[in-house]
Amino acid sequence: MAVATPIQIRFERFDGALDIAPAKPPRVVTDQEKPALLARIRERLKAMDAVLVAHYYVHPDLQDLAMATGGTVSDSLEMARFGHDHPAKTVVVAGVRFMGETAKILNPEKRVLMPDLGAECSLDLACPADEFAKFCDAHPDRVVVVYANTSAAVKARADWMVTSSIAEKIVAHLHAEGKKVLFAPDKHLGAYIQKVTGADMLMWNAACVVHDEFKAVQLEELKLKHPDAKVLVHPESPANVIELADAVGSTTGIIEAAVRLGAKEYIVATDGGLLHQMRRRLPGVNFIEAPTAGKGATCQSCAHCPWMAMNGLHNLLDVLETGRNEIHVDPAVGTRAKVSIQRMLDFARAHLPALKGSGDA
Ligand code: 13P
Ligand code: SF4
Repeated sequence: MAVATPIQIRFERFDGALDIAPAKPPRVVTDQEKPALLARIRERLKAMDAVLVAHYYVHPDLQDLAMATGGTVSDSLEMARFGHDHPAKTVVVAGVRFMGETAKILNPEKRVLMPDLGAECSLDLACPADEFAKFCDAHPDRVVVVYANTSAAVKARADWMVTSSIAEKIVAHLHAEGKKVLFAPDKHLGAYIQKVTGADMLMWNAACVVHDEFKAVQLEELKLKHPDAKVLVHPESPANVIELADAVGSTTGIIEAAVRLGAKEYIVATDGGLLHQMRRRLPGVNFIEAPTAGKGATCQSCAHCPWMAMNGLHNLLDVLETGRNEIHVDPAVGTRAKVSIQRMLDFARAHLPALKGSGDA
């Protein structure tokens, strides 16, 4: 089947340099203050009937805290499901803004807090709702499938929301029904899904600043130095990096692949935060971050999402003490966005055996 020509919209800067300067790191935590901070956060979570839902890319302190307090550390699909199913009145999302918005859309009656509301995502930033609506209007014959890494308004315009762990299955399902797909915003994820499903897909043009920087030539060089290492790649990475992978998957998918493949050494092309969970699950195994820069070049994000890094213990305690940084979603937009998210969750329930994060291990 012919591949739809990717179209150029705007935000060409996402193919090159993106100014990630607005992503301010949180206040540093000293070893002396950490125990008291952790104890205070635990107290506040309990007193507020709050649960901490963290992504694998946030600082290990937050990942450990989420697990130790009955929350979860997981990929974006499981974060959505966990926050939805958990009975706590307040959901504290340690991740990026779209994750907080998804939690709020699914649970309008709950209070959703985030350590820093400025935690964006380059994919979300590169897909403004008004431009996206024009793109959809120009292609009314296509089913609109959007990645979770988008605003509530973009989800409200979509038929389906997908995350990286279920995108392939959902697009294959639509393809089997003879449907053509409009996919946004990640061009690499879209191209990968197009390749494995053979679906007719028209892509938006955006990329993740972290994964876009992984380099195939340097990865091949690294593989020569570690001939027995298996390569695990997140599908937001460029196609020539994905081609070198022994396994391609979401963050949870990458952990599962490492367990399944049973190697002694892995080269991992995703945010370095995931290595914390991988080392915890597979002690004694060597994990190496995939290279992000060509010779002499400088990477910007260097395998660490600058927005995920905005989550810290100080700003987490601050929101728990003050109630600041609550996520609000326009109810009309939220109601429409919920349709595309719920469609994915229903599909996941029917087609994925178990959705688990590290908090459930
Ligand atoms: P996952 O759903 O695989 O955790 O991906 C979220 C994300 O933002 C990856 O960059
Ligand atoms: Fe967005 Fe990339 Fe950061 Fe994930 S790692 S939140 S896709 S910028």
